[in-house]
Amino acid sequence: MNYQKKTVYDVDVKGKKVLLRCDFNVPQDKQTGAITDDKRIRAALPTIRYLLEQGAAVIACSHLGKPNATFDAYVKKQVEKGKKPEELTEADWQKSNKKLSLAPVAVRLSELLGIPVAMAADTVGPDAQAKAAALKPGELLLLENTRFEKGETKNDPAFAKALAGLAGADGVYVSDAFGTVHRAHASTAGVADYLPAVSGLLIQKELEIMGGALENPKRPFVAILGGAKVSDKIGVINNLLEKADTIIIGGGMAYTFIKAMGHNVGTSLLEADKVDYAKEMLEKAAQKGVMLLLPVDTAIHDKFENTDKFLTVDTAMMPDGYMGLDIGPKSVRLFTEAIRGAGTVIWNGPMGVFEFPAFAEGTKAIARALAESDAITIVGGGDSAAAVEQLGFADKMTHISTGGGASLEFLEGKVLPGVACLLDK
Ligand code: 3PG
Repeated sequence: MNYQKKTVYDVDVKGKKVLLRCDFNVPQDKQTGAITDDKRIRAALPTIRYLLEQGAAVIACSHLGKPNATFDAYVKKQVEKGKKPEELTEADWQKSNKKLSLAPVAVRLSELLGIPVAMAADTVGPDAQAKAAALKPGELLLLENTRFEKGETKNDPAFAKALAGLAGADGVYVSDAFGTVHRAHASTAGVADYLPAVSGLLIQKELEIMGGALENPKRPFVAILGGAKVSDKIGVINNLLEKADTIIIGGGMAYTFIKAMGHNVGTSLLEADKVDYAKEMLEKAAQKGVMLLLPVDTAIHDKFENTDKFLTVDTAMMPDGYMGLDIGPKSVRLFTEAIRGAGTVIWNGPMGVFEFPAFAEGTKAIARALAESDAITIVGGGDSAAAVEQLGFADKMTHISTGGGASLEFLEGKVLPGVACLLDK
C-alpha cells in the first residue's frame, strides 16, 4: 500500500471549511457517561490547532460506540439479548443512543483547546447545516455521532455527499482518525469522493512510523505478538514472516504453537483448528530464516483466577489439568535478550492474563525491556499500550499507536480504506 499521502501541509485551508474526521471513540463510565480516557481527544489536538491557526473553519466528526441507526436495528439487537419486541419503544431506542452522543467530547475538547466548541444536535440535519454554514475561520464545530446515520457504516454515497456538503464547494476533507482507517465508512472513506482528501498530523505520524518500520526497518526487526487468539493474528504473522528477523509469540496464542510442536498444553487456551496453521508458520519461519521464539517456561494454575499460588514449569512439561496464564522468568530473559539487540521492535498483545495482577509480570517485563531498549519501539493499541502507560513507560516508546484494529490491519499489510482514499503525494 502507498503510505505517501498528501497532508494538511500540502493544502491551503485559509478561509475554507474543513471536514475533519477524528477518532473520538473514547471509553466512558457506564453509569455517569464521563470520559475515562481522553487520549484519543488529545491525539487530535495538533491537527485541530494547526487548521484553526491556518484560518480554517473546522467541522469535526467522529463515531462513538456502536449505536443503532434505526429502530429496527435496535429491536433486532435487543431481541438477540433476550428482550421481547413488544416491550421495546422508540423512546428506549433514543435513550440508548443518547448515551452515545458526542456532547461530552465537545466539552472536553473545549477544555483542552481553551476555546468554545459548538455542538450540533444532529450529524447532517438542519442543526448541523445551520451551524456549519455560520461557522467562521478559527471556529470549531463538532457534529453528532456519525453512526446515528444509517448511511455511515454502509458507506452510502448520499450520506457521504451530505457530510461533504457541510464543508461547501471549496471545502477540504482531512482524515485524522487513524483508529478507524480500516473501516470503509462514509465519514472515513466515502467523503473523499466529494472533497479533496488529505491526512491530518496523527495519521501522518502513524503512517510514517509504522509504515517506515514495515517497509524499511532498522534491523534486526523484532515483532512481539501476544493476546488470546492465533485466529486474530493470522494475517499479521503471515505478513511479518516476510519482514521481521525475529518473531516472539506469547500470550494465550502461544499454546496453539506449543501444541503444534508436539507438547501437552493441559487446559491452556488452544485453537485446535489452528494447530496445522501454527505448524505451517513454524516451517515457514525455518525456511525463511526468521527466528520464531516461544515461551520456554510458563506460569500455570488449575483455575482461571488471580492467585499467588501458581506454579512455573518448563513449557514442554505442562501437566494435565493446568493452564498457562503467563510467560515465566526464563522466557522473559530469552525475549528481553532478543529485544536488547533489536533495531526496531513492534509489539502487539499481552504476554499473559494481564488483568490478573499475578499474571501481569510477563507483560510488564516486556514493557520494561522496550522502555530500556535503544531500538525504535512501536506499541500497538489495546492491552500492550495500556501496560506501557500504567507502568509510566509511555514517553520511553518511539510510538504508541492510537489504533487497535487499525494497527493490526496495518501490520497485516492490508489496504486501509481510510488511507487509500487520500490523495497521493
Ligand atoms: C476503535 O476503537 O478501534 C475504533 O474507534 C474503531 O471502532 P469500531 O471497531 O467500532 O469501528
